[in-house]
Amino acid sequence: MAPTVTSVDASEPRVASIKTLADSDALTSVPSEYAYIMDPNDKGDANDPEHSIPVIDFALLTSASPDERAQMIQKLGKACQEWGFFQVINHGVPESLMKEMIDACQRFFELPEEEKKEFHTKNLLDPIKCGTSFNVAIDKVRLWRDYLKVIAHPKFNSLYKPAGYSEVSLEFSKRTRAVATEILNGISESLGLEPDYIAKAMNWDRGCQILAANYYPACPQPDLAIGIPPHTDHGLVTLLIQNDMCGLEVKHNDQWVLVNAAPGAFIVNYKSIWHRATVNNIATRISIAVPHGPALDTPALPIPVLLEKEGEKAKYIGMTYEKFMELQASPAAYMMPCLDHLRVKDN
Ligand code: OGA
Ligand code: NI
Repeated sequence: MAPTVTSVDASEPRVASIKTLADSDALTSVPSEYAYIMDPNDKGDANDPEHSIPVIDFALLTSASPDERAQMIQKLGKACQEWGFFQVINHGVPESLMKEMIDACQRFFELPEEEKKEFHTKNLLDPIKCGTSFNVAIDKVRLWRDYLKVIAHPKFNSLYKPAGYSEVSLEFSKRTRAVATEILNGISESLGLEPDYIAKAMNWDRGCQILAANYYPACPQPDLAIGIPPHTDHGLVTLLIQNDMCGLEVKHNDQWVLVNAAPGAFIVNYKSIWHRATVNNIATRISIAVPHGPALDTPALPIPVLLEKEGEKAKYIGMTYEKFMELQASPAAYMMPCLDHLRVKDN
């Protein structure tokens, strides 16, 4: 057999994880490849109480009382239009399960680097992958973040380590998907459609669900680094949970707003809205973003009955979810919201 040739791959990061770097005692400043200088005009405004994302009460959204449900659906529609981000409370997923899921992910990130290596893959849709930054092959600036992505639906995939991850992630993914389904149905109804209209059109029963955990260690100079720079997500609805550290910021009316959710709430992202993850110098922040999308082969398109109702022409072309995810992971997504790449050119 021919000997295995190993070559130095320029896309390999200098450190396997930001955790390794952040754990070293000597680290007192941000190394140059991580330096992310933010425009002063782009700084977040964390202290404006007028600016917090809307709250959706899941118990009312799924209430047996038509009045209660109708009111919450209206509120949901408004939250989607005006913010694209909201928090969902009273959803019934135990806070203890959320904590166990975060703990399981933390234990994964804390495994020795050697043990995580087998999950270092390059393909976007590999069922399990972990790594650092975003895409080290194209990142101009390294991100202060490690990640673990596991596809949990339509086929449930899991890790055999750390102990407990598999069981917890199965329960968490099922419960989270059930909440996402109700939110999607509520959004469908808020648009004047049948509750299951979007789910049917997007082949939700074969829909893609990804458990995407982010690990942001404390950073000695948080103003000089970024966890995830401004981007838009690819899913239909992304549900996010976090440990007790904040850091997610959402762009609303041209201002960055720090998301401060109630303990145990899901933070939900529906529209293609800019958001980013900042880092802090106090403690490790862990978040788990759970994008729920259409089936991979299913194109998302403007809804014909809504266009007819408004007497409008489609402003976007359709694209399969798989292609859209590729677009979202490409450098093009840094320039403008990925949805804007699908805009029909005005003539
Ligand atoms: C993401 C994301 C934000 C956060 O994973 O797409 O936007 O707060 N995460 O970790
Ligand atoms: Ni995101």
